[in-house]
Amino acid sequence: MIVLGLETSCDETAAAIVRRGADGTGELLANQILSQIDHEAYGGVVPELAARAHVTHLDALIAAALSEAKLDFTDLDGIAATAGPGLIGGVLVGLMTAKGLAFAHGLPLIGVNHLEGHALTARLTDEAPFPYLLLLVSGGHCQLLVVEGVGRYERLGTTIDDAVGEAFDKTAKMMGLGYPGGPAVEKAAASGDATRFALPRPLTGREGCDFSFSGLKTAVRKALLDLEEVSPQDKADLAASFQKAVGDILARQTGKALEMAGARLGPTPRLVVAGGVAANRYLRTRLEELCQERGAQLIVPPPKLCTDNGAMIAWAGAERLALGLSDPLDIAARARWPLTELAAS
Ligand code: KG4
Ligand code: ZN
Repeated sequence: MIVLGLETSCDETAAAIVRRGADGTGELLANQILSQIDHEAYGGVVPELAARAHVTHLDALIAAALSEAKLDFTDLDGIAATAGPGLIGGVLVGLMTAKGLAFAHGLPLIGVNHLEGHALTARLTDEAPFPYLLLLVSGGHCQLLVVEGVGRYERLGTTIDDAVGEAFDKTAKMMGLGYPGGPAVEKAAASGDATRFALPRPLTGREGCDFSFSGLKTAVRKALLDLEEVSPQDKADLAASFQKAVGDILARQTGKALEMAGARLGPTPRLVVAGGVAANRYLRTRLEELCQERGAQLIVPPPKLCTDNGAMIAWAGAERLALGLSDPLDIAARARWPLTELAAS
């Protein structure tokens, strides 16, 4: 089964092609991505600019993906596109393009939930079998879910305020490290002293495995204000202290989620980490340590498939199509679409 997938829900325009074998194995045949950089000057993504850029570039990326895979539309078995959640103008561009292509070529359309794309990527890259615990850490989300199957998610915890990627982005912005913030903070942190600043670990001692990052962000702001002049070493130390706090929070709450999920994860529990923040090497190490302590297996897709990409959408589309699931041409684009609402759709 060969599926073309389009991703346009934020500031990456992407088109990719995957093959899914009858045995569930996957192969990435083409992976085209264009990261929009025009937003840097604004310190964040400007939705209208992003949507216009998707319109400008998507057709060429689709053509490049077909040529990379040495395939034609007639070789495809389905067209998938992100149908939400995300910036609605961008989601509409990808979804309407997919609808047009599906209609013109008589192919099934699969409207993919972007979060399901992140959630299932480890099955493409590492053949991760169900069930597994998923830590989804991106620019818009921070959630812990038990993934039982395609469309079958139970949420154990979520952020009550900011997403973890957002905390990285805002921290970078306050320190003038540029956008996107995650990689910039990671780079600065590499030469910093993580013990220099005492930053809070919100929700310590509270039951459950929800997250909170807004207090941490405020503490970073306060630490910056307390410094008279901010030197590059101050920035490095603060970035390292911030990253360590995030590592402590993620490890603690993920540890609790492993306990909460308990026997549902089977004798050798698996932890899959997905979303842009999973590209962070320090955080990977912290989660690796947690998994070693708990006798669990850690699965993290390669960094370029952790941040937004078309392969995750093509793959989620292929997984759905393999189950006989596709969508009508009037499926709506959705700005908000929690994973836990997916089973019923
Ligand atoms: O999954 P993603 O590409 O887009 C969303 O669906 O949100 O995630 C983007 C987020 C951004 O907040 C970015 O700063 C963060 O992932 N990110 C990182 C790293 N690379 C990307 N955060 C920490 N360390 C990184 N190396
Ligand atoms: Zn994403």
